[in-house]
Amino acid sequence: MAKILAIESSCDETAVAVCINGAIRSNVIHSQSIHEKYGGVVPELASRAHLQAIVPVTKEALEKANVSLHQIDAFGFTRSPGLMGALLVGAGFAKSLALSLNKKLIAVDHMQAHVLANLIRDNENKSIPTFPFLCLTVSGGHTQIVLCESPLHLKVIGKTRDDAAGEAFDKAAKIIGLPYPGGPLIDYHSTNGDTDKYQFPEPKIDGLDFSFSGLKTAILYFIHDEKAKDPGFVNRNLPDICASIQKRIVTILLKKLKKAVQVTNVTQVCLAGGVSANSLLREEFRKMGKEENWRTYLPDFQYCTDNAAMIAITAHYKFEAGIFDALHVHSSASSVLSS
Ligand code: KG4
Ligand code: ZN
Repeated sequence: MAKILAIESSCDETAVAVCINGAIRSNVIHSQSIHEKYGGVVPELASRAHLQAIVPVTKEALEKANVSLHQIDAFGFTRSPGLMGALLVGAGFAKSLALSLNKKLIAVDHMQAHVLANLIRDNENKSIPTFPFLCLTVSGGHTQIVLCESPLHLKVIGKTRDDAAGEAFDKAAKIIGLPYPGGPLIDYHSTNGDTDKYQFPEPKIDGLDFSFSGLKTAILYFIHDEKAKDPGFVNRNLPDICASIQKRIVTILLKKLKKAVQVTNVTQVCLAGGVSANSLLREEFRKMGKEENWRTYLPDFQYCTDNAAMIAITAHYKFEAGIFDALHVHSSASSVLSS
């Protein structure tokens, strides 16, 4: 019955979760609001906000799980990728706890954790994939198609050559004047929009890789030209603009995912990462799964965007495999996902 407390601090969420024997007992997320007025995450401010939040968030996670700090067997933390200063807060805190309480320490790769969020089962009705499965991980910093052979053997078989899908959403939102992070706002404003009103280009990239920078440039020029003709263009057409942008990003993602299934013959397919909270992506993914006869899996919303439950479940599998980190060793910043 391993009891694990895990910390996520890679960007602008200070999150702590407790996992007992593979079951998530608490999952507390403090989202930093300080960045809103700057239109993006300010690394120095993120580190300071993590320092302020980490103790109260940890206390709350322990209380909700009804365990004491002394009962914890191992402390997990996000090692990379992420903002260096932000990561250091979580790493330093986890190391201090493990050292002072003489417990195990487990460093977790953030992208592996996004994928393994699909293995969290909060209730008996929740079905989870068996191995092997494919995962389209779409976050603010990464876009990957991952072939998962076991919790600890993940292979990146496709990735973005420039911007990530979340970045494409956020940059498009910025161009049309929406605040950061714009992904959820594009989703929201798309609700009653016409997805085919404006046609944005699709990149021509071979294989399983993605590219979103061309789309961003096309949106930039399109909005610039339309605003030159009519300054009120964005305000009057916001739902149609958002729906058309969202549709293009989703079709780019799902086309490659379909190709990945054809190439690998793996038909259990998952989504992960912040963009997997997108309503059109979820809907079209399920639809494609039905048409193509895949078994599809989606993490609950709370496990799509950054959270510590995904770090805890990954730490759980590492704990079971006996993979621990030495307290005195410098952790490498490179990803554990092979490519
Ligand atoms: O996984 P995540 O929380 O953090 C990273 O590891 O990057 O992903 C954050 C990204 C942001 O770009 C945000 O705009 C996007 O996920 N996002 C969405 C939605 N919710 C979050 N993008 C589109 N639609 C959403 N509903
Ligand atoms: Zn993330």
